[in-house]
Amino acid sequence: MANAYAPYSKFPVGACIVTADGEEITGCNIENASYGLSMCAERVALFKAYSEGKKDIVALAVAANVDEPVSPCGACRQVISELAPKAIVYLTNNDGSKVKKMTVEELLPYGFSL
Ligand code: THU
Repeated sequence: MANAYAPYSKFPVGACIVTADGEEITGCNIENASYGLSMCAERVALFKAYSEGKKDIVALAVAANVDEPVSPCGACRQVISELAPKAIVYLTNNDGSKVKKMTVEELLPYGFSL
């Protein structure tokens, strides 16, 4: 979240992936003046991991400055379901006081696949 580039929404989001060998790979949202080009924290973390060949993802955590656990957008749910299908997903709030623990299937039931 500290590295988020979110001058338009002012809604910083942080994500952290844990791989099977315990490595942590972080991501944050990165926005653009052409709003549609903005990228969510979850996808930044997932794309970073995949681009480094780290595909065995066991957990994904997401945090934002909200009172209740942050809810990933539909686009991220679709990408998570393909790139980290076995991950346990932890969604949390501003101070980590509330954590929602979910499977990917719970996050996106009946997701699209080819
Ligand atoms: N955002 C994320 O990074 N992840 C989410 O799960 C929800 C939304 C970002 C996108 C945009 O930069 C900002 O939060 C407001 O929508």
